[in-house]
Amino acid sequence: MRSIANVADYRVAARRRLPRFLFDYIDGGALTERTLAANAAELQAIGFRQRVMSGVGAVDLSTAVLGESLALPVILAPIGLGGLTARRGEVQAARAARTAGVPFTLSTVALCSVEEVAREGGTAPWFQLYVTRDRGFMRAMLARAQAAGCRTLVFTVDMSLPGIRYRDRRSGLSGGTRLRRALRLRAQALRRPRWACDVGLLGRPLVLGNLAELLGRGAGVENFWGWMADNFDPTVTWRDLDEVRAHWSGTLIIKGVLEPEDARAAVAAGAQGVVVSNHGGRQLDGADAAITALPAIVEAMGDRAAVLMDGGIRSGADVVRALALGARAVLIGRPWVWALGACGQRGVTHLLDLLAQEMRLTMALTGVASVDGINRSLLSGRR
Ligand code: FNR
Repeated sequence: MRSIANVADYRVAARRRLPRFLFDYIDGGALTERTLAANAAELQAIGFRQRVMSGVGAVDLSTAVLGESLALPVILAPIGLGGLTARRGEVQAARAARTAGVPFTLSTVALCSVEEVAREGGTAPWFQLYVTRDRGFMRAMLARAQAAGCRTLVFTVDMSLPGIRYRDRRSGLSGGTRLRRALRLRAQALRRPRWACDVGLLGRPLVLGNLAELLGRGAGVENFWGWMADNFDPTVTWRDLDEVRAHWSGTLIIKGVLEPEDARAAVAAGAQGVVVSNHGGRQLDGADAAITALPAIVEAMGDRAAVLMDGGIRSGADVVRALALGARAVLIGRPWVWALGACGQRGVTHLLDLLAQEMRLTMALTGVASVDGINRSLLSGRR
């Protein structure tokens, strides 16, 4: 960890530690990966106005999102299979998030179940749910998450169909027969003996924890794409959200909107928050960068909903950029998984500390002492 100075270093370290199929699955995006690249590039193109002699001493990063206090305006995004990068990985990440004072969001298709993360992570996570054909599964999952203590539901709406990701086809994670997939993934795992031992052997069971009951023997991680392809529901509409709202008594956040009309529909359907997101460039290649879509949604929402965003956040300066354009907080996806894969819980703790340090520096040099003070006046408007 001594050689790790920033988020990009965690990516390099994760590439060295993880089997090819796993690194490529995390790193990749849809089709040409144009939207994936745009997410980070459009953020980095936003300039700051340097302010001097502004007397900013201590910087306060704390904030509140939908009634919950956060030590900094960062949330760990839901990442399917994210826990496969370290032993019982989602538990380790949830512990790091708790220590840092930020929420951890558990994916439907995580390795660790919601019960395991709530019990071992020290606090109930935010829970992310997908629309699936099996509405009974959705209802049962909502009941389980509430029983485990979850109070915030992140309902993801930009994945009515699984995106096409060529890297997964090349690595063998998707496509081919079940046997061929299993053989290829095993061969790649054996080339990373440390991971194979730490996660492959000592991290068992390697099943999709939330689906284990539903799928029985079919819940193994090698069947991940099969389950996704069979269970996503392209016929879903906003009306289907009534059922979710009826079975969820806590906070509801809709994740995956890029258009103001869709954000308005989400609020009309009972959401208190939206995440402006293109799923980290993994769904519609050619969709706008999330940061590009953010301002119009912030304007459309006013104070009717909390607007969060994700996609391409790679530094504390990026967090400040997103907040300056109106986001209440950001979610980070790949960075926490790279840090977890590279150094486990310690890595995620260190990553969150790095983001906090970078935020403090950026805020001090742009002349703001608190998150509430971050607005468009920090941005140069020159590119
Ligand atoms: C995701 N994302 C995602 N979103 C979701 O709602 N449920 C999920 O299970 C997953 N799974 C998932 C796996 C992997 C490997 C990635 C990279 C992403 C999307 C994720 O929550 C988030 O929107 C993006 O990762 C944000 O972009 P960055 O921070 O990765 O650039």
